[in-house]
Amino acid sequence: MADTFETVGVVGLGTMGAGIAEVFARAGIAVVGVEADPAALERGRGHLEGSTGRALTRGRLTEAERAEILGRVTLTTSRDDLAGCDLVIEAIPEVMEYKRALFADLDRICKPSAVLATNTSSLSVTEIAATTSRPGRVVGMHFFNPAPVMRLVEVVRTVTTEDGLADDIAALARRLGKTPVTVGDRAGFVVNRLLLPYLNHAVVLLEHGLADRDGIDAAMRLGAGFPMGPLALLDLIGLDTSYEICEALFRESRERRHAPAPLLHELVAAGLLGRKSGRGFHGEEAPQTPSAE
Ligand code: 3HC
Repeated sequence: MADTFETVGVVGLGTMGAGIAEVFARAGIAVVGVEADPAALERGRGHLEGSTGRALTRGRLTEAERAEILGRVTLTTSRDDLAGCDLVIEAIPEVMEYKRALFADLDRICKPSAVLATNTSSLSVTEIAATTSRPGRVVGMHFFNPAPVMRLVEVVRTVTTEDGLADDIAALARRLGKTPVTVGDRAGFVVNRLLLPYLNHAVVLLEHGLADRDGIDAAMRLGAGFPMGPLALLDLIGLDTSYEICEALFRESRERRHAPAPLLHELVAAGLLGRKSGRGFHGEEAPQTPSAE
């Protein structure tokens, strides 16, 4: 089937969902953005206005272009408004129970031809697809943070994905100005499967006192040419999301080396989730070298 994605729904307008909505709207595609309640919807609106406002300040968008982009996004708290969408992308928290309930609902609401996609970073797309009556029309469409900037989209194909659908989604990703890579349904896909063990190891080194926070970050920026140090990147991704990805890798591999670092768990338990909560490894009063166990 040719790429006929003209109206796209995004469920969940946190950092990733709002970024994804912006990417579609920038490509001229109408977006229906859904959040659970009015307060969350307003936060989602804030993300969209903030990100496009920043582009305006930097001279990357004109006022008129920004207004056009924002004008393509309809914000709502009613999932029923997704009925006319050709594709719906889910970007809600990484809890399988929530995703399964949502996909069962989307399956009921959306037209039979609609594609249902998940932006999950670690959960099984196959398991999510199995909650619907259309597993052949379910894929992973995995964006990277910040979504408007990062150029990759992992297109996740399961054993039940119908022939040709991954190619259609890859074509759509190109239409968004992204580069697609098609991957199989294994925890972490390609990027997180390689990236998170490295990031988790950086937390272990911090715990062991090998170097302090800024030392570890500077070492990888200046010595390995990474745009951000690992602890700063964990803060950007979100420590809760990072922890969930490590857990998924650990569950799948049953290898101790993949176990989330205790300090990562400690910060998540304390509600210190990185940029989204204002403090993680960096941020106000964040410790340079936490006490070792
Ligand atoms: N939203 C929108 N645009 C943003 C942004 C955001 N949150 N953050 C930065 N930008 C834009 C800026 O506006 C700027 O755009 P311009 O060049 O058009 O003016 C451009 O990105 C560069 O930003 P800055 O000059 O402020 O800062 P840097 O040059 O330091 O770049 C960065 C910031 C793009 C975040 C860069 O540090 C980077 O690439 N870091 C690594 C990010 C990364 O690895 N992401 C993947 C994480 S894994 C993941 O997401 C998977 C998931 O499943 C967990």
